[in-house]
Amino acid sequence: MDLHIVKDQAEGGRVGFQVFKAALDDGAKVLGLATGSSPITIYNELAGSQLDFSQLTSVNLDEYVGLKADHPQSYHYFMQQNLFNAKPFAHSYVPDGSNLDEAAATSQYDQIIADNPIDLQLLGLGQNGHIGFNEPGTDPESTTHKVTLTESTIAANARFFENEDDVPRYAYSMGIGSILKAKQILIVAYGEAKASAVAAMIEGPVTPDVPASYLQTHPRVTVILDAAAASQLK
Ligand code: F6R
Repeated sequence: MDLHIVKDQAEGGRVGFQVFKAALDDGAKVLGLATGSSPITIYNELAGSQLDFSQLTSVNLDEYVGLKADHPQSYHYFMQQNLFNAKPFAHSYVPDGSNLDEAAATSQYDQIIADNPIDLQLLGLGQNGHIGFNEPGTDPESTTHKVTLTESTIAANARFFENEDDVPRYAYSMGIGSILKAKQILIVAYGEAKASAVAAMIEGPVTPDVPASYLQTHPRVTVILDAAAASQLK
């Protein structure tokens, strides 16, 4: 893993931007994107840059089940606000949270990923080691699937909703297997609350208990951390 320890999220945004720019310079056509707080400074850098995404495709990791694309807490809406309004792509795919037919929604998304192999996948890291919405225990070969969110993830996401009862209980997520097929992966984590997950991801055993530990099996992973997130590394 190629590890960068940055002074703050602003610097992380600049380092992350360079990873995206290098991938585009190398001919990347499909970008795998994430929501959450960690990627925001990278999106700010991308949105304010000269980079042109109008011929590219984006494929997002996950979406809440039951939220339509225009719901303000949907991940689709988040992407519009944080990147797509400033930098439209030729095609942007996010799992269809409004499709309650699980088999149809997940197989359609697997087909989209198969048709658009991801060149660079951006990830955040959950406090419990999740990537996408792949919670501890997820099959490392999993493809897109419906996930029952854990209580810790619901609690962590409650800050975006008026109260915890409004947080959806299910999501569609790319699987660990889908994520590991990306040619290159960039994972970003900030703050002390991520420190133990970061240590388990980088230095712990590769185990379903820590979905991010499977990144150790991928040949091309860049990690951006601040000092607090890196504080439990040996
Ligand atoms: C978001 C996603 C999640 C987040 C993770 C970290 O699309 O898949 O795995 O990346 O929960 O979230 P933040 O960055 O908000 O700490």
